[in-house]
Amino acid sequence: MAEPCFTAVAAAEDIKEKNFSTFEINGIGIVICRFRDEYFAIENQCSHAMEAFDNGRMRGYRIICPLHGGSFDIRDGSCTGAPAKKPIRSFPLRIVDGKIEVALPPEE
Ligand code: FES
Repeated sequence: MAEPCFTAVAAAEDIKEKNFSTFEINGIGIVICRFRDEYFAIENQCSHAMEAFDNGRMRGYRIICPLHGGSFDIRDGSCTGAPAKKPIRSFPLRIVDGKIEVALPPEE
């Protein structure tokens, strides 16, 4: 399998603890979350009615959708709360020289 292609997204220090920021990279909306000084990347689209998480909130390792309150684990995108049922995608993330890099799938 080909090596994943990592793309620099933001400076790690720009994401505040217990918070997240949203980005669009190569046409894919992503959310970078920080909790306990770990960083995670998930897609910025709820699996319930496709709402973005921009106005949502984080609680521990969960991100909560602003539209109907469905929730997802920021570590792997698994669904943790109704009315959402399906997981969302999560993406490999690494920190290189203080920069967050995310491996996104090939352009869709
Ligand atoms: S759109 Fe996210 S819970 Fe409904």
